[in-house]
Formats: sequence, C-alpha cells, structure tokens
Amino acid sequence: MINVVFTEASTLAFGHVTSKNPNGATAATPVAIQVQNLGLSLSSDKGEIPVLKDCSLRIPEGQLWMLLGPNGCGKSTILKAMAGLLRPNQGHMYVAGPRSFVFQNPDHQVVMPTVEVDVAFGLGRFNLPLDEVQTRVHNALEAVGMDEYAQRPIQILSGGQKQRVAIAGALAEASRVLLLDELTTFLDETDQMGVLNAVRKVVGGADPVTALWVTHRLEELDYADGAIYMENGRVVLSGTVEDVKQYIQKQQDQMHNNGGFR
Ligand SMILES: Nc1ncnc2c1ncn2[C@@H]1O[C@H](COP(=O)(O)OP(=O)(O)OP(=O)(O)O)[C@@H](O)[C@H]1O
Ligand SMILES: [Mg+2]
Repeated sequence: MINVVFTEASTLAFGHVTSKNPNGATAATPVAIQVQNLGLSLSSDKGEIPVLKDCSLRIPEGQLWMLLGPNGCGKSTILKAMAGLLRPNQGHMYVAGPRSFVFQNPDHQVVMPTVEVDVAFGLGRFNLPLDEVQTRVHNALEAVGMDEYAQRPIQILSGGQKQRVAIAGALAEASRVLLLDELTTFLDETDQMGVLNAVRKVVGGADPVTALWVTHRLEELDYADGAIYMENGRVVLSGTVEDVKQYIQKQQDQMHNNGGFR
C-alpha cells in the first residue's frame, strides 16, 4: 500500500524548524522542504530496486542547501520525488510550492527562440494580462542577471547563461522551491560562478525562495547555508556545511589509508 503523502506543513508536527539548525534558522523559521522516512523503489530488469531508504531531511525556507554523495547514491531520485516526478512508496514529504526542477543539461529545458519568449513560455497556461507577463519576465531575468539578454537568441548563450534563463523561467512562475540537479557539471568556472551567484542572490532576496542544489563540486559548498550527504540511498548527514566537509574529509582520509580504490 502506498502511504506517502504530499502534505501541508501545518498538518505535520515538523512544520517549523525546532532543533539546532545551521545559519540562524530559529524555531519560527518555516520549513520549505521536509522529508521523513522516505522510501522509493524503481523497477529494473531485476525487479523492484529500493533506491531511497528511510531518508529524512529538513530545509528551512529562504536558504540554499547543497546535496552531495557518490554517483548512484540517489541524489537525482530524491530531487525528482520532491518535484513530484517520481512517486515514493514510504514515508512523508512536504515541499512548499510552487516548485520547479531544473535539469543538468540546459538544452533540454530552454526551448524558445529568444530569452524573453522562453521565460514567458511557461506563463502561457496562467492566462495573465500582457503587462503582468512582461513584469514577471523582466523581474525574473533581472534576478538572475540576464535582463540585458532579453532579446537575444537562446542559441548564442553559454551553458551557464541558459541555466540562468531556465531558473528565470521558474521564478517567473513564482516558484518558491528550486530543485537544481547538477547545473554546473558541464560549465567552466565563469559560468559556474554566474549560476551559483544568481541562485545565491535569488535565495537571499525579498521573497523567500529556497534552493536545493545537487553537486559534485566541493568548492561550491562555501556558498551554501546547509548541506546533506547521501550514500547508497540513505541520507547519512544533514547539517552544517562544516559537518559535511568534515565527513567528506574523513571518508577521503579513510580511503587514502586503505590505499585508495583497488
Ligand atoms: N529509471 C530507473 N530505473 C531503475 N533504476 C534507476 C532508475 N534511475 C536511477 N536508477 C538507479 O537508482 C540509483 C540512484 O540513481 P540516481 O540517478 O538518483 O543517483 P545520483 O546520486 O543522482 O547519481 P549521479 O551522481 O551519477 O547523478 C542508481 O543505482 C541508479 O542506477
Ligand atoms: Mg544524478
């Protein structure tokens, strides 16, 4: 029986941050994402494989958290579950809405001929008056530092600029939670910093946007308010950036002492 619920924070006992939490989140800070004892299986040719096992985490509103862990540990799967793209079979989950998932490859999500038309594209289904659309597109592009590019063709943008346009699309739709899956993997350092700074700025802005950022690039941790580490389908650590850095360092030391991979 499936007993997972997407539920309202107010109906959960854990609707607010209560315990010691990184970066000044207090008891009054609302939670943007809360996952409790989440389990999710995917079917393969070998049958149902448990991919997420008993995962719990909590992210306060208005913060940027990073999610790290080895290849195949379940980072994309948990993000997709949060986005509602995959259906868990155990546990509880609250994710504030509206929420948007941004994929690793920008070419899979920026589709229209020019930047502003692409950002406006997702607004089509809301039947908004034209001036409202224009304001939202302008504000969203400004938020990610791409307003000067509004009239440019999408094809001439760099990978990082396309990622920022994809994020602007999510902001134009008034997304409150951004689920960002390895946006910087294929980017050079300039583009990496452009995207990272744009997300940092959006999260620190007047409206409480929360971002969960999956990465393999450890240097990005310095931009985060908190971090989560997964291994083999489990959340093994959820806390401060320092906690996660120390955990990774310990893992690396252990591997070094054991003679590395053999
Ligand atoms: N559609 C699927 N069907 C069956 N198994 C899957 C499917 N998608 C992913 N998996 C398996 O689930 C596990 C977790 O995959 P996931 O993509 O979430 O890992 P990840 O942490 O995002 O890895 P990476 O760092 O390489 O992106 C892996 O063992 C993967 O093989
Ligand atoms: Mg992944």
